[in-house]
Amino acid sequence: MEVIVKETYEEMSRLAAQMVAELVRKKPRCVIGLATGSTPVGTYKELIRMHKEEDLDFSQVVTFNLDEYVGLPPTHDQSYRYFMNDNLFNHINIRKENTYVPDGMARDIPAACALYEERIREHGGVDVQILGIGGNGHIAFNEPGSSLASRTRVKTLDEATRKDNSRFFDSIDQVPKYAVTMGIGTIMEARQVIILANKESKAAAMAAAVEGPITAMCPASVLQMHPTVTAITDKAAGAKLKGDYPAEPHTLVLK
Ligand code: GLP
Repeated sequence: MEVIVKETYEEMSRLAAQMVAELVRKKPRCVIGLATGSTPVGTYKELIRMHKEEDLDFSQVVTFNLDEYVGLPPTHDQSYRYFMNDNLFNHINIRKENTYVPDGMARDIPAACALYEERIREHGGVDVQILGIGGNGHIAFNEPGSSLASRTRVKTLDEATRKDNSRFFDSIDQVPKYAVTMGIGTIMEARQVIILANKESKAAAMAAAVEGPITAMCPASVLQMHPTVTAITDKAAGAKLKGDYPAEPHTLVLK
């Protein structure tokens, strides 16, 4: 795993956006896996800036989001579809029909999950997957204990995750109890992964993910088995890492 510890959130976000932009320029029809949460917002802001100021063209790009709450319609301001429209899609020239977010309102959720996997396959798989990390080491909504081979499915959210995410809702009671999420096996099939973490509250999870044992109790640790992962943190989230890591990536070129 390539680990890069930046001084600030802005530098972390700029580097992640630069890596994604490099791919979009080289492969205009690329497939990008996207994450929600506060962590990637800076990366999305930078991609929007590149679109507006540097003509970064998303007209042929296809995106697949990691997860969605069960029971929240796309019009709900805490649904991940709403989040993506608001934080990225509405501000770039991507075609909305090329943006996929799991359907948390589907009548037949297992069928919708199977279809989601099929759509990813039809588009040739994910070229680069952006990830955040939960304070408990989760990726997407794959909570500790998730099968490391899991596919897109429904997961019950941990109380810790509901508590973390309750800051976006009026109260914890309004945080959904279930989510549809890409599985860890699904995420591991992306050709390249960029995992981002900022703030001190992520330092322990990042140390466990990058330098700890590979265990389902820290789902992000499975990324150690992926051949092309770049972990980018700010100084606070990188504070518990013991290794000696460079401040720049070996290369910005995505394969
Ligand atoms: C959420 C999302 C994850 C995200 C994580 C961290 O529950 N399902 O994809 O990485 O929690 O969120 P944040 O970036 O707001 O800390």
